[in-house]
Amino acid sequence: MGTIILGIESSCDDTSAAVFNDEVILSNCVANQHVHEAYGGVVPELASRAHQQNIIPVVEKAINDAGIDKSEINAVAFTRGPGLMGSLLVGTSFAKGFALANELPLIEVNHLHAHVLAHFIKEDVDDQDQPEFPFLCLLVSGGNSQIIKVKSHLEMEIIGQTIDDAAGEAFDKCAKVMGLPYPGGPLIDKLATEGNEDAFTFSKPRIAEYNYSFSGLKTSFLYFLRDQLKINPNFIEENKVDICASLQKTIIDILMDKLVTAAKDTGIKQIALAGGVSANSGLRQRLNDLGKLNNWVTYIPKFSYTTDNAAMIAINGYYKFLKNEFVGQETTPFARLEF
Ligand code: KG4
Repeated sequence: MGTIILGIESSCDDTSAAVFNDEVILSNCVANQHVHEAYGGVVPELASRAHQQNIIPVVEKAINDAGIDKSEINAVAFTRGPGLMGSLLVGTSFAKGFALANELPLIEVNHLHAHVLAHFIKEDVDDQDQPEFPFLCLLVSGGNSQIIKVKSHLEMEIIGQTIDDAAGEAFDKCAKVMGLPYPGGPLIDKLATEGNEDAFTFSKPRIAEYNYSFSGLKTSFLYFLRDQLKINPNFIEENKVDICASLQKTIIDILMDKLVTAAKDTGIKQIALAGGVSANSGLRQRLNDLGKLNNWVTYIPKFSYTTDNAAMIAINGYYKFLKNEFVGQETTPFARLEF
């Protein structure tokens, strides 16, 4: 056995625990919270309560699935932020209690760094499919849209980011306007596969450097539907797949235009995707196509590591363990933790 790390993630609405042996995953358990579906978004109060219910069984299952005894664990890594304060408090308090009771060092992890490091999770010791440094990572989730220059496991620099909404928010908010349930991203993805992506055009922002903006798209989408519904009250029902395909294409165009420019300017040809929106089939396809066109080596995480999970927290914890980057029991979660 190498170094055994227990990872805990509770930043938003997924309670997750994972066990790693060095860089190799032994288990990763996630309890999703379906309670939010009825509200069209995550309700923080309900999320913290569900974490409270889920955390003990999830950690117990992760340890059992890993086939280890808890006495074999060398350190506990947990998400310090960014995220919802009530949710973060549950994971942080659990990690502190577990570390104290078992006399283990405690490692705090930035949730966004962890999304990037999901590319280093090995399914077995021979797994060599990891990006080389430096690489560019497009991190796209419900709360973030960033282009990150990754210099080493623990050295990262944001070179571009959204100035308002994130790409996932654009998917979710536009889906809501169409009357689709939360989270809208996966549903738009599914419907888009049957639609014509050139059926409708939506406005694209003109933002400086490698930064993004999605609030204008959301507004233009809202006005477009409002105008069409005045002419035909069944417009959305009759054109749902084409609307989804056209919207998805616009979001992908916006994301990829900046990524292509950043890759050209930096000369970096190792390009990765991360975050919840990287599950999008159109985005994955576009990255592959652009990779062939620009001679990039591309990296797309497995579906299970795109959304929030503790495996990415544990692998980040492992790299910090190697550098003795531990924190004391006085540590607190931080909802707006800087990158
Ligand atoms: O990283 P993540 O799980 O959570 C946080 O943002 O914390 O990302 C969730 C976001 C949601 O906005 C969801 O709609 C989006 O990822 N998403 C997708 C797809 N799967 C998840 N967006 C587009 N296509 C998908 N297939």
